[in-house]
Amino acid sequence: MDGGENQGDWWRAGVLYQVYPRSFADSDGDGIGDLQGVIDHLDHLDSLGIDGIWLSPCHRSPQADFGYDVADYCDVDPEYGTLETLDTLIAEAGRRGIRILLDLVPNHTSEQHPWFRAALTGRDDPHRDRYVWADPGPEGGPPNNWVSTFGGSAWTLDPGSGQYYLHNFLPGQPDLNWWNEDVRTAFEDILRFWWDRGVAGFRIDVCNMLVKDAGLRDNPPATAEDPWVMRAFGQRWVYNGNRPETHQILARWRELADRYDPPRLLLGETNVEDLDQLVSYFGSGTDELHLGFNFPMLGAPFDASALRAVVEGTEARMPAGAWPVWTGSNHDVSRMATRWAGGDQSRIRLALLLVLTLRGTAVLYQGDEIGLTDGVLARGDLLDPVGIRFYPSYPGRDPERTPMPWHAGPGAGFTPPGVVPWLPLGAPAEVNVADQDGDPDSVLTLVRDLIALRRSTPDLALGASETLPTPDGAWAWRRGTGTLVALNLSDRSVEVGGVEGRVALGTDRARDGEPVAGALRLGPWEGAVVGSSPPGPGLATVTGSEGLGTGEER
Ligand code: GLC
Repeated sequence: MDGGENQGDWWRAGVLYQVYPRSFADSDGDGIGDLQGVIDHLDHLDSLGIDGIWLSPCHRSPQADFGYDVADYCDVDPEYGTLETLDTLIAEAGRRGIRILLDLVPNHTSEQHPWFRAALTGRDDPHRDRYVWADPGPEGGPPNNWVSTFGGSAWTLDPGSGQYYLHNFLPGQPDLNWWNEDVRTAFEDILRFWWDRGVAGFRIDVCNMLVKDAGLRDNPPATAEDPWVMRAFGQRWVYNGNRPETHQILARWRELADRYDPPRLLLGETNVEDLDQLVSYFGSGTDELHLGFNFPMLGAPFDASALRAVVEGTEARMPAGAWPVWTGSNHDVSRMATRWAGGDQSRIRLALLLVLTLRGTAVLYQGDEIGLTDGVLARGDLLDPVGIRFYPSYPGRDPERTPMPWHAGPGAGFTPPGVVPWLPLGAPAEVNVADQDGDPDSVLTLVRDLIALRRSTPDLALGASETLPTPDGAWAWRRGTGTLVALNLSDRSVEVGGVEGRVALGTDRARDGEPVAGALRLGPWEGAVVGSSPPGPGLATVTGSEGLGTGEER
């Protein structure tokens, strides 16, 4: 399938939106966002024109890692609602043409999961082998040199049995043993449970780490060529993840996903720095993940040649049939409005234009649509265990998790006035949904219009992409047969040559509809989508939100 016209490929041309439920909207006044809060704001999401929501975990959890430590994969945590609230969310979103993806956390459970509680009762417990256990190393310490992504050894001693258990994240997140067939079938049951309930797919947490080296070999030391994160940890992640056998699991899930009508979507958190490794998770193009997040893109500076290298490098390696996915923010990295744009309005608008016009599925994180920057938090505000451990060299992930500002009043519409939100609000007062709604120059209007343009323009939705020659600091590509996207990622004005047509949408909205004959001049940090005039009546009726009008004939 290379189309997208049919239901099964709804996500290709689509825009997904990540909801971090804890910080989205608090309907019951406890300071914590919940599923009813998401339901209450579906009209906002509908007004953006998104196709699907990726909901970060709302399963039963002690919240040691804010939901990424699951104690029951088939139930909703009472902090967020009930299974019935989730059913209502699926139905209410569905009524608006919005599909729901849940977050699957298969690498590890919570220490409070009944399997781990049982495993702790002794070496003979039938659930013991669902986790990774090992005797102490020859010196009496941890079994090998693996370090946890969250700091320290990846092994914790269970004094009762004298063995260590593996945790690539917190000690409260024991890693599952994916060599164990019971684990594999249990997760297939979990997938079926949700897919039968109408869930459209899953974002799969650290899906590249599932299987560990069977011999638990030491990781080799990092080299100067390794990505910074491995250098920081002093070792190359060779044996504690990215094992070839993980592909077999993803292939089994894909087979299962494809049995549904429409097929359920597998969107992997492929947290790898190497593009060859990234594309390996697409398998042959049609037999593993449908989509895999691009972390090199998230790690790249907001610089034309750096971003272009990631995009072209990814595209060049993708197997036939596979489809890219682009995002600038999520709940684990500084928001793009801060990381890429430093809070600058022109750069924020340009970053959104980029993410929404590259060939591929686009994923927005809550708040991107209003240009929300990271919250500024004091040491005492931090709740993320990683921030608490590494502050001040790394503040952790709380800054990108501060609550969604719905209006400028007390509580920001996130929580009732007077209630203390779980994390401080942190957003500048002028950045909120209500104040941007209806303002033709706001970031929110830009995002709505970009998504509408993407939907109404087949070139942007599904068209091929070809890079065009540009001066330094600029980057331009042609989508499909005649739509051009040009970005100026520099402080100087640039001129992109060979452009004919009309501005369909500019980050400077005053330029919408402007004819372009030969060269497109872009001011600092400005970008535009230009539609080529088709033969015949041309683009006389183009407006920012109505699209190029070239699609209907195709
Ligand atoms: C993923 C999640 C992150 C979590 C980690 C461990 O990277 O996105 O939030 O802490 O996995 O589950």
